[in-house]
Amino acid sequence: MITIQVLQVPSVIPEPYWDIFLSSVSEERRAQASRFMHQADAYRSVLGEVLTRVKLSKLTGLGHREITFTRNKYGKPSLTHDADAQFNVSHSGDWIALIAGGKDELGVDVEKIAPIDLQIAERFFSPQENTYLAAQPADQQLHTFYRLWTLKESYIKAIGTGLSLPLDSFAILPSQYVQGQQVGDLCWCCTQTGHAELTGKLQQKGEQLSSDAEGDQNIRVMPHRFYSQPLDAKHMLAACTADGELPMRPEVVTLDKMYTKLVEDANAGR
Ligand code: COA
Ligand code: MG
Repeated sequence: MITIQVLQVPSVIPEPYWDIFLSSVSEERRAQASRFMHQADAYRSVLGEVLTRVKLSKLTGLGHREITFTRNKYGKPSLTHDADAQFNVSHSGDWIALIAGGKDELGVDVEKIAPIDLQIAERFFSPQENTYLAAQPADQQLHTFYRLWTLKESYIKAIGTGLSLPLDSFAILPSQYVQGQQVGDLCWCCTQTGHAELTGKLQQKGEQLSSDAEGDQNIRVMPHRFYSQPLDAKHMLAACTADGELPMRPEVVTLDKMYTKLVEDANAGR
């Protein structure tokens, strides 16, 4: 079962809590945390790894300290002991988000919503996404920008290629724009134009490029499913899976709950 967990990062973490969180992460993470200029960056980085370890410990039966990570050439982490265990983490502003479970690739992105010059969409989004964005009412455009941004990032994080996949080589849009589907809730769909790396990946998986309704052989409707919801007034959340059901809503994890779990594990000698 795929779950999405979110954790709100407080402005100050009590020292006993911070000590146990720090002692639960890798040495690299501890060293990185000590180099951040801003405490909030250290909090997000460390808590992201703690949340991941606690969840993976539950999924695999390994102690949270026994878990080690390997990264692909674009930086996507996987579990060293079990490359099939699926998870992905994101942190921004006041929130950390973790998606985990199932058998297929997963991606998640949370972004703090800040006022920006929407012209940057032209640099990052595909023409279809820009048309969709421009058609939204003026007071919805910033929101829509962050929706598309987080959806796109959840997708590149799921496939693990990072920004090596050009951001304008695929479009994530409401399904009714792409396939004419009539669905109650807004449902998102990704179409991908031909890209050597992705094509290679799909062929490894035995999938074929197929033609779309207009017969363009280079456009493929991807099987990926998406989740997109604001976390609060200032943060947008999106998640992506290559297959399987995404949950209806995220589960909120508290700092206390995580602390208690780590103390219990420590007392049990794990
Ligand atoms: N694929 C999937 N996950 C990755 C990854 C990759 N290639 N590289 C790193 N990650 C994971 C790591 O766990 C990382 O956390 P850690 O560094 O604390 O271990 C986490 O994703 C970071 O995600 P997030 O908090 O969302 O960071 P980000 O938004 O700064 O970076 C990346 C996102 C990883 C995709 C990065 O390639 C990047 O630089 N993105 C720039 C943002 C952008 O242009 N987005 C496009 C939106 S249209
Ligand atoms: Mg991000």
